[in-house]
Amino acid sequence: MESNLRRLRKTVRIRNLVSETELSVNNFVLPYFVVEGTKIKDTTSSMPEINKLSLDYLIEDIHDAMENGIRAILLFGVPGLKDEIGSSGYSPDGIIQKSIRKIKDTFKDDLIVMSDVCLCAFTSHGHCGILRNGLIDNEASLEKLSAIALSHAESGADFVCPSAMMDRQVHAIRQSLDSGGFNHTGILGYSAKYASSFYYPFREVLGSQPAFGDRKTYQMDYRSSNQAMIEIEQDIQEGADIIMVKPALSYLDIIFRAKQTYPVPLAAYNVSGEYAMVKSIARNDPVMEKMIALEILTSIKRAGADIIISYFAKKIGNWLNEKSI
Ligand code: PBG
Repeated sequence: MESNLRRLRKTVRIRNLVSETELSVNNFVLPYFVVEGTKIKDTTSSMPEINKLSLDYLIEDIHDAMENGIRAILLFGVPGLKDEIGSSGYSPDGIIQKSIRKIKDTFKDDLIVMSDVCLCAFTSHGHCGILRNGLIDNEASLEKLSAIALSHAESGADFVCPSAMMDRQVHAIRQSLDSGGFNHTGILGYSAKYASSFYYPFREVLGSQPAFGDRKTYQMDYRSSNQAMIEIEQDIQEGADIIMVKPALSYLDIIFRAKQTYPVPLAAYNVSGEYAMVKSIARNDPVMEKMIALEILTSIKRAGADIIISYFAKKIGNWLNEKSI
């Protein structure tokens, strides 16, 4: 029998009827870059329309995002001070700690606050761990990452999100949260995080480019997918509540495989380079931007991601309401 597949494509109503993948603003997380000071809104050349905001403006921006349906954010901090051991990353008055307190105080449990737990933004050398004799020392790094995570939990974070790719980081953080009385604070592990050039725009924004070498001794080699499964399995065993694959677009096979293999909620990070790529193709044409972004974000969900972290998240609510896909 000859098939006539075009019957199911005849009208937009029929296409909608048989559609298998639906984006929802509920599943999106909006990342933010917060800086010290007041009344600061620094544009970034590498990521058009993404600004570095001081806390006062950040609160205003979150109000806007919530009007558009966003209920989860992921915070990155640009500290005033960087040193060898990333001290401002775990100071109770660090930029992230102050921000989480103020945000949770303002929005309470109507907004999920997630915080990135890493050292690269806070160290003078820009690496995600602590250096000893020029090498990243795993154990020394775990101690600092646990201190960062605990300080975020104390400030009121709902989920702490370790992204340093140190071995056993989820275990160390889970222990320090539990012994600090933060059994209720969740962990979203950046489980399978690849050493990717798609992070360059982000590093420019955050000023977190490593001063020497690269991140290939801790982030994953993109030629492997088996190791991603081991990383994810370990994170689950160590106590991750949510796992993540990052980046998303060049890693849809990893997302698919993770979803088929593990029943844990799966997040995918649509990273800065993926965002910048769309912006450069769309060249200020908002319709083009929407069409390309929706195609990419739908493919990430179709591959198996339950949660998508994306710089487009603020626009998703409006895009989906326009119903002109
Ligand atoms: C911190 C971190 C990075 C990103 C998220 N957390 C950068 C890196 O690992 O160099 C990248 C996010 C993005 O590109 O949007 N380690």
